[in-house]
Amino acid sequence: MNVAATQEALYHTHDLDLSWSEATLPERERTKHVHRLHPYLGKFIPQLVEVMLARHVREGGRVLDPFAGSGTTLVQALESGYDATGVDIAGFNALLVRVKTRPYNLVALRRDLLWAHAEAEAFEPRGLYPEEASDYVRTWYAPAAAEELLHFRGLVEQVGSADVLRVILARSARSARRTTHFDLEFPREPQLEPYWCFKHRRECRPVTAARRFLLRYTLDTLDRIEAFAAARTPDCVARTLHGDARTIDLEGPYDGIITSPPYPGLIDYHEQHRYAYELLGIDERRNLELGRPARGTGLAAIKEYMEGVSGVLENARSSLVLGGRMCIVVNDRRDLYSEILQRAGLRLVDRHERHVNRRTGRRAGEYYESILVAVAR
Ligand SMILES: C[S@@+](CC[C@H](N)C(=O)[O-])C[C@H]1O[C@@H](n2cnc3c(N)ncnc32)[C@H](O)[C@@H]1O
Repeated sequence: MNVAATQEALYHTHDLDLSWSEATLPERERTKHVHRLHPYLGKFIPQLVEVMLARHVREGGRVLDPFAGSGTTLVQALESGYDATGVDIAGFNALLVRVKTRPYNLVALRRDLLWAHAEAEAFEPRGLYPEEASDYVRTWYAPAAAEELLHFRGLVEQVGSADVLRVILARSARSARRTTHFDLEFPREPQLEPYWCFKHRRECRPVTAARRFLLRYTLDTLDRIEAFAAARTPDCVARTLHGDARTIDLEGPYDGIITSPPYPGLIDYHEQHRYAYELLGIDERRNLELGRPARGTGLAAIKEYMEGVSGVLENARSSLVLGGRMCIVVNDRRDLYSEILQRAGLRLVDRHERHVNRRTGRRAGEYYESILVAVAR
């Protein structure tokens, strides 16, 4: 029996101007333009950032996100007329944010991407693993898919838009893995045979080629970057720093901070893009990622998590202008954040609760998060 309230009923009974139902804020709006350049598990939505900026950060000011993730804060900041800086420890996330937020020469970008599209279209796989295919590639990709992906990788360095091609390659590599359709986030082993697909309610087959993804995502990426170029505020700039936000020089001062820390033991932010690290050879810094599931959720892991997050927030706090606000989006079911704020030298001045729409109205009642608004003590 379904006992959860429907989204509409739920939103009617809560004063949640920070909560949006599927009907008022459909998926295509939450993932408009560059927000959809590559899947990322654990992001917040741009509309939430938009409201937080308007409420808590001086108009036209500089904003920081020390846990930048897929770059939602930075992209929205550019759209709303702010300069922004983001930090992330995961190299692929830093690459993705840079590709989303840097300014482009659109003529050169179009030329590079259409050239890569034509090259990928003309390539004919032989159905054999290339010699340079790693164990990972041989395990997770069918021979033709491996050939197409590695051929595309060979195109990357040949154009100025190399980082954009890297993101297209990663997105295609994600879709072309031999996995079931319902286990794309963290597949444990390759799916080699046809299987009953719970998502599509029919028998599905594992992917054998990467070509259609490479072609489709190349054109989609071009469209999305062009759409964002028209939506971003001229002269606003974003900077992306790859490193540990506890210790990195944040290059402040900032008029406000909008961020969402990782939660303990929930998502491995390096592992979710494993294929990108494997194919692109990006530098991994897993040991510095806070809250990693591999650490568990025992007492020692929680202590380490609290020290880590308060270290980041303290570093961020010291980069704020006098009276500047820090908005921290959390699901604090372990009740860790009053102590984390205390240790980081922060004082809570406001708190909003919001319902998180997880797309299906059936599960409407299940997930809430808080936005903690803090200032330096
Ligand atoms: C909840 S996600 C942020 C998602 C982001 N709000 C978005 O919308 O995409 C947390 C991020 O913190 C990053 N992270 C974890 N430990 C870090 C550290 N020590 N320094 C900087 N970033 C870190 C993770 O790699 C992950 O991308």
